[in-house]
Amino acid sequence: MRIDVVTIFPDYLAPLALSLPGKARDKGLLDLAVHDLRGWTTDRHHTVDDTPYGGGAGMVMKPEPWGRALDEVARGATIVFTTPSGEPFTQALAQELSGHEHLVFACGRYEGIDQRVVEHAATLGTVREISLGDYVLNGGEVAALAITEAVVRLLPGFMGNAESLAEESHVDGLLEYPVYTKPASWEGRDVPDVLLSGDHGRIAAWRRAEAQRRTAERRPDLLAATGVISGLADLDVR
Ligand code: ADE
Repeated sequence: MRIDVVTIFPDYLAPLALSLPGKARDKGLLDLAVHDLRGWTTDRHHTVDDTPYGGGAGMVMKPEPWGRALDEVARGATIVFTTPSGEPFTQALAQELSGHEHLVFACGRYEGIDQRVVEHAATLGTVREISLGDYVLNGGEVAALAITEAVVRLLPGFMGNAESLAEESHVDGLLEYPVYTKPASWEGRDVPDVLLSGDHGRIAAWRRAEAQRRTAERRPDLLAATGVISGLADLDVR
C-alpha cells in the first residue's frame, strides 16, 4: 500500500515513522510519504488560507495549493479528506480502506478546505470525507494518524497473529470481553474461575456473554445493529 499525507504540519505525522506503521514500512508492506502543503504555494509568504466568502469567523484553506498538491500526488488514489463533517470512521471502513492500493490524506486546518478542492479531487480519484468522531479537532492530522494506524495493522502479513485481529473489539460488532493474565490472584482479586478451567467451550461461552454484557452497558447502539438485542432479555445487565 502507498500512503501520502498532505498537511501544513508535517511534524505532526512523525509518529507514523515509529510504532505500527513504521513496522509495516520495514516489512515492505507500506510506502509512506508526508508532504508540506506550503511546498505548493507560489507566494513569498506561503499563504494557505484566506477569509471565507459570505463572511463568518475563521479562515478557509485556499484551493490553489491543494489543487497543485493533489494533481501531483493523488492521481488514481483514494483521497481521504479528514473532516468533522465526514462519514464516521469505523472498523468496517478501516477494513475497506486496507484493500485500497493508494490512500492520500488531505488534512484540513482552520474552518476547512475550499469545497472546490473536494470536487476537483473527485476528478483525480475516489473521494472519501471521513470523521474521527463527533467532536472537533484543530485539524485533520490526528484523524489521519488514527485512520492510518487502524488501516495499516489490517494489511495482510502485518499482524503476526491473525487470531488476535479476529477477536478484538468491533470486528464482530461487539466490544471485546475482559482479559486477564498471571498471577491468578492479585491484591485480593481473582481471575474468573472459568478461565482457569481448561474447558474451551465454557470459556468461549463466558467470553461471548461478557462481550454482550459490556456492549449492552456501554454501547447499546452496537447491539441494535448486530441483532443481538433480541437476546438481551437473557442477560443480567448491570
Ligand atoms: N478535523 C477536525 N475535527 C475532525 C474530526 N472529528 N475528524 C476528522 N477530521 C477532523
